[in-house]
Amino acid sequence: MAIPFLYQGDTAPLLARKDSDNVSAVRSQIKDELAEKGAVLFRGLGIQSAEAFDQFSYQFGYQDFSYQASLSNAVRINLTPRVFTANEAPKEIEIFLHHEMAQTPMPPDKLFFCCLSASESGGATPLCRSDYVARDLREEHPALFAAFDQRGLKYTTTMPAENDHASGQGRSWQSTLSVQSKAEAEARLTQMGYTFLWQQDDSLVTTTPRLPATRQLPNGDVSFFNQVIAVHLGWRNSALGRPNLTFGDGSPIEPKALETIVEIASRHTVDLAWEDGDIALIDNHRMMHGRRPYGGDRPRQVIVTLALDH
Ligand SMILES: [Fe+2]
Repeated sequence: MAIPFLYQGDTAPLLARKDSDNVSAVRSQIKDELAEKGAVLFRGLGIQSAEAFDQFSYQFGYQDFSYQASLSNAVRINLTPRVFTANEAPKEIEIFLHHEMAQTPMPPDKLFFCCLSASESGGATPLCRSDYVARDLREEHPALFAAFDQRGLKYTTTMPAENDHASGQGRSWQSTLSVQSKAEAEARLTQMGYTFLWQQDDSLVTTTPRLPATRQLPNGDVSFFNQVIAVHLGWRNSALGRPNLTFGDGSPIEPKALETIVEIASRHTVDLAWEDGDIALIDNHRMMHGRRPYGGDRPRQVIVTLALDH
């Protein structure tokens, strides 16, 4: 089977240590392809280190999006100032389709993944076109599409008191919010429009302000830009037993509606099976990603850098 998203053009100018005239031509060709396909895979670059990956991704001229400053709920480790580990959830766990940090008011625009070491079996990154999901949902279930589009969503999560490395959502509130004290945490959350409640174990239950469930793309397409699938299939209920997800007005979302969305997304999902040295560039507005469970003794090492594009 042909590999979807595989970039067939010249990449040599992007690997050169110094700026050449060809860099901007190659870069704009890749960006055109990215806008059309939602993802671009670079294979055969021979990337073997976080530093080489940092260098390659830097050539695209995007703005840095730091993990420290982000509201990501996963525990990650920086390898260079711009590159960090992917979500290190246990290998038997599936990370379900999501847009990176769409459950926060500050998601990144572009993602770069680099596979330094592919797992023996499994471990693919499923990619799903959210513009196709939005299109099908609107055509087949117009009232449901309108509910998401008009009412938006609110997400409730629990931020633990300490980093929990065993959890896919284990980042402490101090780290997530870049604060030291409870007073600073409260000030930051209030400023962003969140509501919150402290728990007896010093964990913090937070609910976002209303966030959009769809997003208009530069070419006029609409994408189903949210965290609905990952929350429905993967998140456990918050400490208070509150649902993790409601419409933006606080009203509940029927489980059947969520199943409908999962089914539509499955039609538009393609697995990216990694090889060592691969780099994928993903448009976070158009494409969801996840991680299939994996097995074998070989460590799976996929590292990440995030970017803003404005
Ligand atoms: Fe992710």
